[in-house]
Amino acid sequence: MAAKWAPNSWRAKNIKQVPVYTDPAALEAAENTLRSYPPLVFAGEARTLKSALAEAAAGRAFLLQGGDCAESFAEFHPDNIRDTFRVLLQMSVVLTFAAHCPVIKVGRLAGQFAKPRSEPTEKQGDVELPSYRGDSVNAIEFTEEARNPDPQRMVQAYNQSAATLNLLRAFAQGGYADLHQVHRWTLGFVDQSPAGDRYKDLAERLDDSLAFMAACGLTSETTPQIRETEFYTSHESLLPAYEEAMTRVDSTSGDWYDTSAHMLWIGDRTRDPEDAHIEFLRGVGNPIGCKCGPTMAPDSLLKVIDTLNPENEAGRLTMITRMGNDGVEEHLPKLIRAVECEGRTVVWSCDPMHGNTIKADNGYKTRPFDRVRDEVERCFGVHKAEGTYLGGIHLELTGKDVTECVGGAQEITEAGLADRYHTHCDPRLNSNQSLELAFLIAEMLKDDRIAGNGSAKTAAIA
Ligand code: PEP
Ligand code: CO
Repeated sequence: MAAKWAPNSWRAKNIKQVPVYTDPAALEAAENTLRSYPPLVFAGEARTLKSALAEAAAGRAFLLQGGDCAESFAEFHPDNIRDTFRVLLQMSVVLTFAAHCPVIKVGRLAGQFAKPRSEPTEKQGDVELPSYRGDSVNAIEFTEEARNPDPQRMVQAYNQSAATLNLLRAFAQGGYADLHQVHRWTLGFVDQSPAGDRYKDLAERLDDSLAFMAACGLTSETTPQIRETEFYTSHESLLPAYEEAMTRVDSTSGDWYDTSAHMLWIGDRTRDPEDAHIEFLRGVGNPIGCKCGPTMAPDSLLKVIDTLNPENEAGRLTMITRMGNDGVEEHLPKLIRAVECEGRTVVWSCDPMHGNTIKADNGYKTRPFDRVRDEVERCFGVHKAEGTYLGGIHLELTGKDVTECVGGAQEITEAGLADRYHTHCDPRLNSNQSLELAFLIAEMLKDDRIAGNGSAKTAAIA
């Protein structure tokens, strides 16, 4: 029997990767402020997302999760939110069309402020200061004052999340997300992209389909599904103090929900089932993600699953694997087999970013586009061989034209990284690279769902 859970039961557990606040009274004051604030999302929305994710687990939908590595206070601007939203929408249209399966759109947005770090401190010359842990903890400047964790930053992160979410809801429901609009932007990419020819066929067929639907009377005016979209938010649940303060009882079900985002995930560094981060999340009803890096052993994975999803509820858990492109065949099959063998239901998602980070010769942290693409392709391959589904993708991206990841059709070089390297944390795919990846994944997904895995499973059932 699991011990009794409460929103604060994590406090009795071992905890990693959280800041040490010098003023406990200030921390408590910030927590109390957050506790008095309105929820950002509703439990019913989190449940709808969970049902959608159950479809992804069964291979009937695909999860597209993406956004900044870290949101920042400095880059808080409606254009940035719009651009990230727009590129996710474009990618979603490309994926939906190619594989004929619904795409579940989940932003790393409206709350993605706290970052795990490999070292607790950073040294520059003789000076050693606490590491930057994201804008909800401290500031990035290398001064003692900036790096001192300030609990009021959690309140600022809440406020920015609330405003961001408000705009996202307006974009999703207010006409901006109209399918015709979104596809028009995609055509712009196809025209301008050096690799555009490769994608022309798909884009033209999509165009034809929309025209056909319009001729049948299915237009934005008549059909809400063409005019509007569902868009969900997510972030890494790294600061349990923040998450606890946002956790409320849902009046409909009587269950606890973390109302800071629809979906929360656990990072690869904080996924010990005995520790505080998993303890907190096991008691909330939201859909949960868990990152799985190369050190995740099958037994530990099963323990995580037992702890977070003892009822084996479909859609509750998404395993986000991030093995590095050349680690997929070595590490992924044994995890899949363990889960299958125990009859557990999870969504398998691929994060092709975090296992493929390298340092360029000029010192920039980057990710080669080819490795990113390769990790996704290998994940599809392994799942196909195991008879399971790759149900989603987890990306760090931006709608801006930054130069942070090398390669892609734009052929960003190491020397070119300096041009527009803006990230506060990890390198992101830019808008062109994101869309290019979407077209490439669309081809893989189509092979998987229409030509391959789907029919194999259907045949086995028949
Ligand atoms: C992240 O998603 O930003 C992250 C830190 O990932 P991971 O926990 O997989 O390293
Ligand atoms: Co990151």
